[in-house]
Parts: sequence; C-alpha cells; structure tokens
Amino acid sequence: MSRSVKRLSDYQPPGFTIDSTDLTFELDATHTVVTAVLELRRLDPQLTELSLDGQQLQLLSLHYNDKLLAANEFDCTSQQLRLKVTEDTFRLTIRTQINPLANTALEGLYYANGSFCSQCEAEGFRRITYYLDRPDVLSVFRTTIIADTAHYPYLLSNGNKVEQRKLDNGQTLVCWQDPFPKPSYLFALVAGDFDLLRGDYQTRSGRMVALDFFVEKGQGGKAAFALDALKRSMRWDEQRFGLEYDLDTYMVVAVDFFNMGAMENKGLNVFNSKYVLVSEDTATDTDFFNVESIIGHEYFHNWTGNRVTCRDWFQLSLKEGLTVFRDQEFSRDMGSATVNRIHAVQVIRTAQFAEDASPMAHPIRPQQVMEMNNFYTVTVYDKGAEVIRMLHTLLGEAGFQAGMRLYFERHDGQAVTCDDFVQAMQDANHYDLSAFRLWYQQSGTPELTMQRHYEPQQQRLTLRLNQRTAATADQPDKAALVLPVRYQLLDESGNKSGLFVMQEHNETLVFDGVSAQALPVMLEDFSAPVRLKHDYSEQELLRIAMEASNGFARWDALQSCWMLWLDQAMHQNNDFRLPDAFFELYQQLLKLPLDDKALTAELLKVPEYHVFAENFQQIPVDAILSAIHSFRQQISQRLAPELKACYQQHSVVAVEYNEMNVGIRALKNRCLDYLALHGQPAETLLLQQYNSASNMTDKLAVLSACLHSAHPAFFGLMQQFATEWQHDVLVLDKWFSLHAAQPSAQVFEQITLLCQHPKFSWQNPNRVRAVFHAFAMQNPGQFHRMDGRGYQLLTDTLLKLDPINPQVSARLVTPLLSWQRFDLERQALMKAALHRLSAQPGISDDLYEKVSKALA
Ligand code: ARG
Ligand code: ZN
Repeated sequence: MSRSVKRLSDYQPPGFTIDSTDLTFELDATHTVVTAVLELRRLDPQLTELSLDGQQLQLLSLHYNDKLLAANEFDCTSQQLRLKVTEDTFRLTIRTQINPLANTALEGLYYANGSFCSQCEAEGFRRITYYLDRPDVLSVFRTTIIADTAHYPYLLSNGNKVEQRKLDNGQTLVCWQDPFPKPSYLFALVAGDFDLLRGDYQTRSGRMVALDFFVEKGQGGKAAFALDALKRSMRWDEQRFGLEYDLDTYMVVAVDFFNMGAMENKGLNVFNSKYVLVSEDTATDTDFFNVESIIGHEYFHNWTGNRVTCRDWFQLSLKEGLTVFRDQEFSRDMGSATVNRIHAVQVIRTAQFAEDASPMAHPIRPQQVMEMNNFYTVTVYDKGAEVIRMLHTLLGEAGFQAGMRLYFERHDGQAVTCDDFVQAMQDANHYDLSAFRLWYQQSGTPELTMQRHYEPQQQRLTLRLNQRTAATADQPDKAALVLPVRYQLLDESGNKSGLFVMQEHNETLVFDGVSAQALPVMLEDFSAPVRLKHDYSEQELLRIAMEASNGFARWDALQSCWMLWLDQAMHQNNDFRLPDAFFELYQQLLKLPLDDKALTAELLKVPEYHVFAENFQQIPVDAILSAIHSFRQQISQRLAPELKACYQQHSVVAVEYNEMNVGIRALKNRCLDYLALHGQPAETLLLQQYNSASNMTDKLAVLSACLHSAHPAFFGLMQQFATEWQHDVLVLDKWFSLHAAQPSAQVFEQITLLCQHPKFSWQNPNRVRAVFHAFAMQNPGQFHRMDGRGYQLLTDTLLKLDPINPQVSARLVTPLLSWQRFDLERQALMKAALHRLSAQPGISDDLYEKVSKALA
C-alpha cells in the first residue's frame, strides 16, 4: 500500500511513450502468463531512467531489445520496474505471471464464474503487466489469447479479430488488433463460454457494424432489449451529435462479477449483467430504464472518452460528466422528459449535496487523490453533467454542438483536459467562459437566496438574489459562480420566461408591468446545481404546483411544500394535519391524472427519507421517519376512495416496456403503496395483484408496498417469491434488498440468514450490495438505531469485505463518513465505528483514504 497522495499540480507529461503494445496471454485460472512486447520511445531526451507501473506481478523475465537482462540490470519492486535507458527507441519484452483466481478485487484480469474478465480503469492494467499505466500514453494494441478450447470457446479483446486457429494441444489461439491508439485503461480481455446474441447496424454513412452480445449460458433471450437499446443509442448519437461508430464490430459482454455498472473498453464493453439482462418477468421498469441508459452511456463514451480521452485522472469529469449529460439527453428523448429530469435532480439533491457536505467533498475536477477508484463519484459524474448542462444552457443547442465539433476537430486521438473542452466551447461561440471555469475547481453546494419586493405604484417586482457557498472539508474559501437561472413568471397576462445569468454574489432582477399576484418560478428545470432558498408561502407554492405549465416546476414547488410540512410536523409533535388545499390537489390528480402518468405518480409521492434529510445540517432521523409515516397515513385515510378508483382505472396495462405503460404502472403502484396502509382490508388487493402480475414491476410493487406499510402479508409473499426465483440471482438480489430494508429489529437475524443463503457470496459485489447497500441506505431506522447495532453490522461487514474487495468496501462505508451530521449520541457511535476501521491493520488505500478523512 502506498498511502501517498497524488496532486493535479504535480502533473508532468510522460517522459516515454509506447508506440505499440503486443500482448500474449496464456490463460490459466491460477497461472496466467502474460508476454508484453512494448515498442518504447523516449520523449524527454534528458531522461536516463524508465519507470513502469506494476502491482502484484511476478516477473518471469525481461528483455531489452533482444538481450535478456540479469536481475542486477534493473530494479523491480512491488510497485515499479525501473531500468537505465540509453537509446531513444527500444523494445522491452516483459514476461509476468498472474493469478486471476486469487484476484477477488476484480481489478486487472480476474477469473470468476468460469470466465476470465478484465477491468482496467482506472489503474488496473498494472496488475496485468508492467506498463506506463496512465491515460496520456496512447498505444496501438495487438492481443493474442491462448486458452483451452472446450472451456473458453470465446476469446475476446479490443478491435478486429485478425487470426483464429486451433493448436494441437486442445487450445485455441485468437489474435485481435485495435487500429485506434488507446490508453491502457481501455484495454479488455474476456474468455469464456457464453450465449451469443447477434445483431447488426448500418451507420449513417452506410457501413455495417456487427453487434455481438455475450451473456451467461441460457440468458441469451434476455439481451434483446439491450441490443435494441444499443441500436437506438447509435442512431441517436448520429442524429443529435453527428457521431458515428468507427469499428466493424461492437461487442458487449455481461458478467455477474463486476465492481460497477459497466466499462467502455474500446470495441469490447464489459457490463454488470444486471444492466444487460432484462425481461418483463424478471426485471422492473426501472431495470429496463437503467439498461437503456447505461448501454447509451458506454456507447457514447466511444467518442467522449475513447476517441478523445483524459490527460490524467483528475480530468475524469471530462469524459464522465460529458457522457452522463449525453446519456441523460438520450434517456430524455426515449421516455418522460420531465420525470427523467426529476430523477437526475434528485440524485444531485440527495447524494451529491450529501457528498459536498461530507469529508469527501471535492470539486468535479479533484485536486488530490490517494485512490483514484474513490473518485468515481456523484460529484464527478452527476454534478459534472450539470456543469455541462449549464454550458448547454448558456450556449444553446446550436452553440453547444458547434463547441463539440471544434472539440473533436482539435482533439480527436488525444488525451486532454477539462480546460481544453471549455476552451473549444468558448472559441466556437466567442463566448467568454473564463469565470465559468470556476465550476471545475470549486467544491460545495452554492446556496441561492431569493427575496421579493413588489412596488404596486410602479407595478414593479424586484428580485434580490444572493449566492453563497459554505466552506467544505477540502476548501475554506469560496467565490461567486456563474449561475444560469431560468425563470418563469406566472401571472394573469400569461407566462413570461427567460434566462438570467448571475455572476456576482448579489444581483437584482427587475420585472416591470407585472401585477401583485405575479409569481416568479426560479431555477426552472434546476438550471444550476444549487440549493434555492425562497420566500414563498405555502399558498404560493401550491399555486405553482397547480398552475405552472412546466411539470418540473410543479413537482419542485411540491417538494418545497413537503419541507414546510415536515417543519410544521416536527414542531407540532405530529398533531400536524396536511392542509385541505393539498388534499384537493391530490384528489384532482387522482381523479384526473395528467397525460404524463409517470409525472403524476411523482407528484403523488411523499419524498423519501434522504430527500428530507439533505435539508438539515443536523439530521433528525427519528422525526423525519415519523413524519413520513404520518403523511402517508393521512393520505391513505383521507383519499381512500380516490386512491382505490385510480388504482382500478389503471390496473389493466399491457406488459411491454414503453413510456405509456411505464407511466400507468407507476401511477397504479403509487396508489397501491398507499392502499396497503389499510391493513387487513388491503390484503385481498395485494395478493390479487401479486398473483395475477404478468411482470416484475407489479410483483415487486406489492412487496415494497407491504414493506412500507409493515403489512403482515410481506413474509408469506417473500417466501413465495424466493421459491419462484431461487434460480435467478438478479431477481434474488431484489429479494435480498427487500429483506435488508425491513424496518424492524428482525432485520439483523434476517441479514445473518441472507449471508448464509446458497446464492450469497462475499466475492460477488452484486450480492453484497443487494444486502448491505440496501441496509445502510434504505433502512435508515435500523441503520441509525440508538443502540449502535446498525453501525456495528456495517463495520463488521466492511472489515470482512475490505481484504476481499476494497472498491466495494470503500463504497459501502459512505453512510458512516457523515457522522458529524447526527446527534451527539449517534456521532459517538459512528465515530467509534470509524475508529474500529482505522485500527484494522492492513486496511486498503481505498478505505483508508475515506476513513482517515472522516476522522481528521
Ligand atoms: N468508465 C466507467 C463508466 O462510467 C466506469 C469505470 C469505473 N471505474 C472504477 N474504478 N470505479 O462507464
Ligand atoms: Zn462513464
């Protein structure tokens, strides 16, 4: 373990580059031999020493040109291979041995579930061979794979297959050539036996591309939706961005053992199987949505990430923020635009704002990093996408696209920085973005305060705007940011809308000729990632919720109402009753749902715990949970007939995944969620839907309705579900999560049982997350128990998990890091848990970086 911090300010261009990389893999689960033939070129003539990165490698031999080097002619540590260099160009032949079966970190080349698979981003390639493992070293790769034919009929790597032959020892040799120079993090290798689903796609310019999906045996049928989604992504990127695919084949492999969602390796994407395999009977509408958006995301990386890549890892948002923006735009065109925006905004307002308020706060371009894997965050990804979206708002679609064209014109084939991207946007539009760039280096959540002043004589409405960003754990001082503020003025004379670009700490916005009733709706569509503090009354908010033409504005106004009501509930000891005007609004929505049913379902939802929690500096866990409970009870009691009628009106819907059906199911199941609170009388309804459901969305909706309402039917149905689905791990994951979210002390015994389940495995990130992510994030009542049992369970889990898979343990620790946001008793318990972790000898860099920041 290095425990050393790398800084952006220390960046040095590489002293050497690798023009070509020729790899040969002799695959074996425990003794794989890798031969790397590297053609190196010295870039800095002053340099006399070459240093290659390596990790957990066993060096077998090293040749310099054709000369075998003796052990005293180079220096080989566990992190590096160093040797003296005298020539400007030379060849190294490095033979290393690795053990893919022992690689439970799932980084580098690993063996799991009978197949070989690789994950190199960010710094996994150094676990395969000694290399200049940094994204600004681009090389042409040729990869030869030799493996036993019977076990591994498919041997895959990047680019085009140029050779395949059977060897006489029962092995096959396959050779791949990738014509596009790429950094090592985009390298991939997969070997195994799969079902293969094939399709093809004709690009706009008429080239045929073969689309090959490799999935677990027997699961081929479940890849059809992903294949179609890929075609839609390819078409969409041509139409919206003018970007075409560039190789003759596009391969996607789905594996059950994977640390994250998916990986955009050139020509050979590797996916977590949960983001490829869907069918109506095994996957929910949300799963379908995720598959489409992640398929899009990885595909869009081919240009934003692969053709133009990052100079160094501090620039990660260059490719991730931009690619998330692109996948969000894609999803928006495929489904309900408003609901998609709502969900993206919720990610910012909960997870991202929470990260800003945590010891891990960092700008979208971090300035220092210990373990890069810890910076694949909602800040870099999702706030990064908001920053791109603001550029889009400022420049408009045409200006933004002009900037994209210039960016590719200048940088195709290069490894560049976020500054290069902004510069292209600036130059293509002759728009000064120098102040805007602060978004890349300043962390934290800006607070935008709005105060209204109305002068009846002049019919003038003045808005005083103030922005302020509080200090974060990483940065004490904050400056004013460029904030594009979209607004709409609701008044009798119709809606006026516009864009106000705020630059200073304090600015005013004046509307003339408006009536006293005019209501300004600010920050429409969440036009900047800030927390808005306004001075609206409940009445005004309800008016926006009812009258705004923009669906997002209606939803957002309701969110503000919920915060007001929570506040009142907390001060009135839950004698608080939701106002009549609110029930009238809900009644109307239930009687006459909007055309966008998915939006209606969102409007009808009481916010979840995390939404409420993020509005407090010190989170009143118990008060939030009891208020949510009371709100839901009141709705279900007051609106019982309307809920029932709406449920029944929408109970018959075709199974197919499409915008309309998804919306109807969401609305119906929102009603069911409230109806389940009726206890015994609801049982028939719940059982009926469960037993007649033709799809997983409707089945799971019953289970989660039972869970939310603590309905006794829960346990029987869970048992039935387990029997039905014990053969399908992805479905079982849902069952694991439901159990782990159960809001009673029984959950602790239940989790012990889950970990003994034959399908549970500590080595499999999907299984571990299904149980423990659900417990820590979807079960706040039990996780934050005052007796500390919840924190203790998570800590025990992390101690067990960290030696197996540090990336997964470092992600799961997140909820413990924010100990300062709870009451003193909980603070003490959480801190004790963190101390237990830090006292553990040999904890990974991943976990150490986070725990030590939290305790600093
Ligand atoms: N580049 C991948 C994607 O966003 C994710 C890679 C995550 N890597 C990591 N080490 N966490 O599509
Ligand atoms: Zn990505």
